[in-house]
Amino acid sequence: MLHDFYAIFPMNKRLKKIYEFISNGLGLVDVGTDHGYLPVYLAQNGYTGNIIATDIRPKPLAAARRSALAAGQSERISFLLCDGLELCPPDKVDTIVIAGMGGDTICGILDRAEWSWNSRYLHIYQPMTKPQVLRYWLIYNGFEILSEALVKDSGVIYPVIAARFGGETQLSDGELFVGKYDLLRAEPLFVEFCAQQIQRLENVLNGIERSSATQSTARQKIIINVLDELKSNLEGSAI
Ligand SMILES: C[S@@+](CC[C@H](N)C(=O)[O-])C[C@H]1O[C@@H](n2cnc3c(N)ncnc32)[C@H](O)[C@@H]1O
Repeated sequence: MLHDFYAIFPMNKRLKKIYEFISNGLGLVDVGTDHGYLPVYLAQNGYTGNIIATDIRPKPLAAARRSALAAGQSERISFLLCDGLELCPPDKVDTIVIAGMGGDTICGILDRAEWSWNSRYLHIYQPMTKPQVLRYWLIYNGFEILSEALVKDSGVIYPVIAARFGGETQLSDGELFVGKYDLLRAEPLFVEFCAQQIQRLENVLNGIERSSATQSTARQKIIINVLDELKSNLEGSAI
């Protein structure tokens, strides 16, 4: 039961979508917590497992501590100042959330935490950029992509990806960029998201074509292939 005098933080749609992926369990670590809204929201909404918040920088972690204090949840959350999962006790969690960072940064965090490559952990990611790098890393390293969702917040569409080590997922080049078609077919935002990605990749391609750098050719070819796949799927409504 929440008391009136404790702050209730405004969870945006993006964080709410991440929250939808979380089930009650042994414990959750929120890597790169910043303001700490997700851990606080979990504590306020009946999550009974361990709640751990990490950040690599002292100021965001201090902000998370302040959020927890204002919400009367300080006792429920452990705060760790560290790079990624470095100080997270592997036996205290079964869910790992890494949200609000670039896909390449998320891969670096996973590279440095091989203990988390284990089927006992549900991984939930919300890459802000380069989701293709993250999806490639996941399928190359033996993770299965279990589900994907899209959420529109303040006009921007964000992907949310749930994965677990030990399965297999195959993705086409286009799916690396927009997500697995089968998992997103029913997602109302998917067509709009694909159209946005096509526009973005066309802009990138135009930029490359305007520069005279010959080493761009391989990158150009990849982008052209991805664009062909996404456009033909979108036109044929196969996605
Ligand atoms: C944009 S905020 C995202 C906050 C929150 N996770 C969200 O999705 O709203 C990114 C946070 O990740 C932290 N961060 C970046 N690299 C990190 C790393 N390697 N380990 C832990 N935290 C990191 C930053 O300090 C920052 O507070």
